[in-house]
This record gives sequence, structure tokens and C-alpha cells, in this order.
Amino acid sequence: MHRYQFPKNFVWGTATSSYQIEGGVDAGGRGASIWDTFARIEGKVFNGDDGSVACDHYHRYEEDFDLLGKLNIRAYRFSISWPRIYPEGRGWLNQQGLDFYDRLVDALLQRNIVPSATLYHWDLPQALEDRGGWRNRDTVKAFEEYARIVASRLGDRVKNWFTVNEPWCAWWLGHKTGVHAPGAQEAEKVHRQVSHHLLLAHGAGVLALREETSSPVRVGLVHNCAVGIPFTESDEDIAESREYFRRENAWLLQPVLAGSYPQDQWDALGADAPDIHPGDLRLISQPCDFLGLNLYNAHGFVRAGEGMRPLESWFPRTDFGWPVTPECLYWAIRHVVEIWDVNDVIVTENGCAYPDEITEGLPHVEDYARVQYLREHLKGVHRAISEGLPVSGYYLWSFLDNFEWAEGYSKRFGMVHVDFESLKRTPKLSALWYARLISQGGF
Ligand code: FCB
Repeated sequence: MHRYQFPKNFVWGTATSSYQIEGGVDAGGRGASIWDTFARIEGKVFNGDDGSVACDHYHRYEEDFDLLGKLNIRAYRFSISWPRIYPEGRGWLNQQGLDFYDRLVDALLQRNIVPSATLYHWDLPQALEDRGGWRNRDTVKAFEEYARIVASRLGDRVKNWFTVNEPWCAWWLGHKTGVHAPGAQEAEKVHRQVSHHLLLAHGAGVLALREETSSPVRVGLVHNCAVGIPFTESDEDIAESREYFRRENAWLLQPVLAGSYPQDQWDALGADAPDIHPGDLRLISQPCDFLGLNLYNAHGFVRAGEGMRPLESWFPRTDFGWPVTPECLYWAIRHVVEIWDVNDVIVTENGCAYPDEITEGLPHVEDYARVQYLREHLKGVHRAISEGLPVSGYYLWSFLDNFEWAEGYSKRFGMVHVDFESLKRTPKLSALWYARLISQGGF
């Protein structure tokens, strides 16, 4: 028995996304995505990096899955590249794209690894962007067509589905600050419309997945939440941190989990509130089987009467500059369950970037900082479980070092090191630590 023992059926996995690892951008009839375009614009991605080769997982998935198997990983969350399936966004369906994911899913199942698929992890077909992208309601229709095709092809074997990964990033970083593709900085009305369409896509995706699969599948959204940790566990500090959580996450979560936009935020937008059609909120709020949470850090600490205060510049941070705040997992899970009555939470991403290096003569990359990070963060998941909160799985971000969006290859999140010249994979100590945790069910 370990100090931190997890339930036998707790799902231990790892996560990736298509554009970040696949490469092979011209292979198998794939069309361009907004990230191919965005990465070509000077100054948008660190070092001018792009995903054209990435980890070359497109050509190396068999050996990558052998490695996953060796590391005891039994659940793998990947994303499907929409422009591999619909290179032109709509109309022409590329069978080679579907065949690729067919083989990928079979390769996982052959190794007893349970596949979980994300439909949208930010690689919108460029052809759809050219017609307005997420600003245009027609993109929701295109997403539904894509979801239906993928569900009918893979739904017999893939039982866990995530619709949209982090609508906040696709909306805010893509259309408000412009640091992610398509790099737009839109007027309030336009970017709010984008957020509404992303939520509609989630709803349309849920419907498509349920209708196109013959045996039951489990479906949910993946949300990256804003968390403030209560400064103490007094009732007042906890209540204020819960209110912070509600306010900061309500724009995206309340429509999905309660079928309405937060009235105060809606009213504050006035004429800039998005246009919505009758039935939209019903579609968006269809019951789901779980909520996925991507959790990396809290914004800081919340004190009753003081709210959220900025952290010191010397507060401990990862290589990404994100503060190390292990309790964020526990509080996010607890708040989301208490506020919106979610009955199953999956931690769909958690992890950290550090400048891990290969040391000549050593078989592994020594990443004690990551081991420490994982250990501390998993204590929060353990606490949630031991208090009876419904959390059923944990996916470490990420399997491999990969293309970290605007940061290019400069931020290493993998439990497996990738040399981006030779593409050699070298497990880090965190991978061995995690493999051992999985085999023992605790640490
Ligand atoms: C999340 C993304 C994922 C990865 C991690 C570090 O926001 O979902 O693709 O970039 O951050």
C-alpha cells in the first residue's frame, strides 16, 4: 500500500495533438491548416519553427506506440487532423486521411492501449479560414460533417471522444490577442461570435458522435480553467476562490453545463454580445459523459475581501514561465463539481516544460524537476478522490517533446525527450517514474 494509492479503475494516460507531433504535412493528401500558414509569418513562432516535421509521428507511430507500451501507458489521448480528412474544408473527403487514423487506432488496440480521440485541437483547415473560419457559422456545419465521418469510421473502436480542446485558446489566443493561429485581433463582437461558434461546434460534435456510432461512446469537452487557490482553507477564502472560478470560467462553461450565458457578462457586452439562434443553447448544453480539464497552474491565491493578487516575480515557475501551484488540480476539480454539478472529471492534460538535456553516456534524461512537479500535482488529484470527488483519469502532457505552438520547439513538455535533428526518442526519468506509478497504482 502506497501513501498515495489510487483506485484500481483510475485511468492513467498521456496526451498529444496532431499538429504538435505528426509532421507529414504534405503526406497522404493532407490539406493546409491555419497553423501551417501562421507558422510561416515572420515573428509569429519562436525561431521560425513549424510543424512540418515535428516528431515525424505520422511515419513513426508504430515504434512510438511500442514505447508507450513499454512505459505501461494504457490510455492515449490524440487528436485528429481535420485537414487530413477534409483537405478543402468541405466537400472532397480524403480517404487516405481516414485510413491513417484507422491504422493508428488499430496499432493502439493491438498493444492494449485505449484510444481517446480529440476532434479539434486547433488545426482548422486553411480552406475554412479563407471563408471566415470560426467567425462564420458555416464552419460549425463543416465541423459537424467532419465529426460524423470520423465517428462513423472510428466509433466502433474509439469509445472516448473529446470534441473541442480548450475553446478558450482557440478563441482568445487565436482571435483576441492573436498569439496563436490565425493570429487575429478582432473587435469584441467578432471574437465573442468565435467563442459562440466553438461552443456550437462542441454541441454539434456531441450530437454527431452519438448519432453516428452504433455502440455507446463517452463524449465531453476539454476546458482549460482559470483557478485561484484559496489562501487559507477558511470558509471565506474558499468561497471567494469558488466565486473567482465561477466568474472566470462561466463564459465557456455555463452554456455547456447549465445551458445559459452568465447574465452579468452578457449584459456587460451590450451590442457586442454574440448573435445566437433559437436552439443554440440547447445544442451546446446536451448532457455529456464527462468534463475534461487541462490544468497546468493557478493564476495565484485568493484571499477573502482581497481577491486575486499578482504573484511575486520570483515565485517558482516552470520553463514556460507558469507558476508552480500544485494545489490547482484539487481546487479546480472541487469548484467545478460544486458549482456545476459535474459528475465525472478527467484531467485531460497536466505537465510542465523544463529545458531537459541529454547527458552523454546516460541512458535517460534526468528530469527531477518534472518528477517533483508530477508528484506534487498528483497529490491534489489523490486528495480529490479521497474526499469523494468524481475524478476518473489523468493524462500527462505530453508523451513526446513536441511543437509547442508559438514557442516552437523551445519548450519541452515530454516525458520522452526528442532530439529534433535526429528525431531520436530518449525516455526521461519522469517516464520511468510514471510507468512505475501506473504498475503500482500509486506512489
Ligand atoms: C495546452 C494545449 C496543449 C499544449 C499545452 C502545453 O494549452 O492544449 O496543446 O500546448 O497547453
